[in-house]
Amino acid sequence: MNPPVRHAVPPTFDVHLHDDWRMRALVDEVRTGLTAAPKQLTPRWLYDDRGSELFDRITRLPEYYPTEAEREILLARSAEIAELTGADTLIELGSGTSDKTRALLDAFDATGRLRRFVPFDVSERTLRDAATTLSERHPGLHVHGVVGDFHEHLHALPDDGVPVLAFLGSTIGNFYPHERARFFDEVASWMSDDAWFLLGVDLVKPVDRLMAAYNDPAGVTAEFTLNLLDVLNRELAADFDPSGFEHVGMWDPNHTRVDLRLRSLREQHVSIIGADVEVDFGEGEELQVEISTKFTRDQIAGELADAGIAVTECWTDTAGDVAVLLASKSTVGT
Ligand code: AVJ
Repeated sequence: MNPPVRHAVPPTFDVHLHDDWRMRALVDEVRTGLTAAPKQLTPRWLYDDRGSELFDRITRLPEYYPTEAEREILLARSAEIAELTGADTLIELGSGTSDKTRALLDAFDATGRLRRFVPFDVSERTLRDAATTLSERHPGLHVHGVVGDFHEHLHALPDDGVPVLAFLGSTIGNFYPHERARFFDEVASWMSDDAWFLLGVDLVKPVDRLMAAYNDPAGVTAEFTLNLLDVLNRELAADFDPSGFEHVGMWDPNHTRVDLRLRSLREQHVSIIGADVEVDFGEGEELQVEISTKFTRDQIAGELADAGIAVTECWTDTAGDVAVLLASKSTVGT
């Protein structure tokens, strides 16, 4: 007997962010973040086309362990995750090109239960490209792209059926503690009793390994953080001189996180015309551009529990570098 013919289902989209949102958010952040002490911007602006390409190069550096370690876990555990959850919908936050999810998607698809894939990303263009490729690769699967920001639009995610919400790649490490707490609360309020949350986190490890991963000898991470200044120059007609700054990656033991900063090598003045601000940097003054938080299993399970989410499984790679947690809504105490 011939298998049933599965026709390609055309992808659909929900767009919650429009082109002017990005620019407004950038202007807002520059106005508050660059006039604050210490100066600070969120990592969002690091990932323009060039930044995404540089991050991609980072993931292939021998010192940068998280990407390969998580891939190892997903390759080993995807079939188990598909079985355990019985998911009919896979949602991926910050999906980008959806490379990370390939193993998951294939395993979910193999169960025959998967109906829908929901990639969620800030970039409409990236999302549309990925959705089209995936619909062709998985005939019969409904790809429903959601363009949104995960600090604002989680409520817009579908919650019917049996969804698995995947937030992989240690992206949660970018969030400050208050953002993390709010995010977990939002995940919990989105979750039905049938929903699952799949979270990838980087684990605390010796400082020398962290420093090697975030201050790589080839200087790719430095190029990545310095690219932020090119983004500001281009998007906001600013006049940053990137050669006047250096990349700094340091370990903050109190918050168990790597802090990435740009340090001004001299006193300098910068005009940011598009945000209508003038900024002075002292010699040695730093601009915080990204944090990368590292967790212990107990810490992350505790934070999830505070939001009413219970960890069912916690898998690590052979080296014990990163963890992938599978969780659902706690039924006790609610
Ligand atoms: C994309 C947030 C997971 O924190 O390891 C890597 C970003 N920045 N090197 C990380 C990053 C510099 C990365 N995440």
